[in-house]
Amino acid sequence: MFNEIKTPAYVIDEKKLRENCEILKDIQDKSGARVLLAQKAFSAYSTYPIIAKYLSGTTASGLFEAKLAYEEFHEKSGDCDNKYKEIHVFEPAFNPEEMEEVCSISDHIVFNSINQLEAHRKVWEEKVSEKKLYVGLRVNPEFSTQEGHEIYDPCAPGSRLGIRLCDMPDILPKGVSGFHFHTLCEQGFEPLKDTFKAFEEKFGKFLSKDNSQIKWLNLGGGHHITRDDYDREGLIELVKYIKNTYDVEVYLEPGEAIALDAGFLVTTVMDIVNTGKYPVLILDTSAACHMPDVLEMPYRPPLKDSGEVCEKKFTYRLSSRTCLAGDVIGDYSFDKELKIGDRLIFEDMAIYSMVKNNTFNGMPLPDIDVLHEDGNIEVIKRFGYEDFKMRI
Ligand SMILES: Cc1ncc(COP(=O)(O)O)c(C=O)c1O
Repeated sequence: MFNEIKTPAYVIDEKKLRENCEILKDIQDKSGARVLLAQKAFSAYSTYPIIAKYLSGTTASGLFEAKLAYEEFHEKSGDCDNKYKEIHVFEPAFNPEEMEEVCSISDHIVFNSINQLEAHRKVWEEKVSEKKLYVGLRVNPEFSTQEGHEIYDPCAPGSRLGIRLCDMPDILPKGVSGFHFHTLCEQGFEPLKDTFKAFEEKFGKFLSKDNSQIKWLNLGGGHHITRDDYDREGLIELVKYIKNTYDVEVYLEPGEAIALDAGFLVTTVMDIVNTGKYPVLILDTSAACHMPDVLEMPYRPPLKDSGEVCEKKFTYRLSSRTCLAGDVIGDYSFDKELKIGDRLIFEDMAIYSMVKNNTFNGMPLPDIDVLHEDGNIEVIKRFGYEDFKMRI
């Protein structure tokens, strides 16, 4: 299917994206939660009109993502052109020069500390009084559910993310109407259930129906809701419980779940180098430049028609044409011997790929293509030398 396209290229699978969004819409409809796209995972905005058809809005990590959502995240079908969608924003510290703009285009702003809340009070308070903005605090339930990768654990000891109960004033500051926590990463329902319990034990006193200052609660991202084995019924029940018990609006802001398995990175074998161990394929893509999570996390990305080392007849080490010795994607085996010019297809490459890539070594950025539902492939973005030069 991808034999004709220029490589390297990310190819977004429109059908899978829609199917993921349908699942998330179903969660919204059955639970009453509002689901937001966390743009940090996926911001290929040419597909925003598809996502906007199903979800309630977006969340941003700062001014630039908020602006992108403001400009691009609109439903554009039939009679509901530009239907209103929410924009939420959280940043550990906001730049004072950007606050006015952040507050004018966002609906919900979440602060990471009481210092930040008070430092920017003058700017946000005006919008709150006009009912154009809702202000929340990120809290840290201090309940880790992840093992192995501490860099993705906002509840790890020493975390700067979220206010711990011991740092929370007894009485909530004026103007605060919501809480936010984000603690999960690629997880099922059980860790969310346990985290909510920990949150409820610590912060529940601020949520009781008689203390009605808190009107909304954002459960962050990291929920792998669109994975086949995710307990969606459990999630629906939990959201209903929260809404009924505390009379709050509930938000979920997954990134991965929206574009999970909804993209490929197509690459071509440029050379094959014999080493003492497995022959090394030099690809026209790079872990360091085009899929940095492979090295950062680290993980071994799924590759179409391949097996584990020695599972199939021919094993190769897949690497890149950068100068970084460690720019290795992983070891894979194949049924047939590979040759220069062959194409390989990495899977699940829509998330945390395009948003994190770079031009280290002067490597060209991959094209961004969309595989439409009718089978047509459209080139959405092509990058060149200027994209490298203008950043330096
Ligand atoms: C505050 C916040 N919300 C949402 C997300 C999205 O998480 P995921 O893409 O794992 O669902 C993240 C990811 O780091 C985050 O930091």
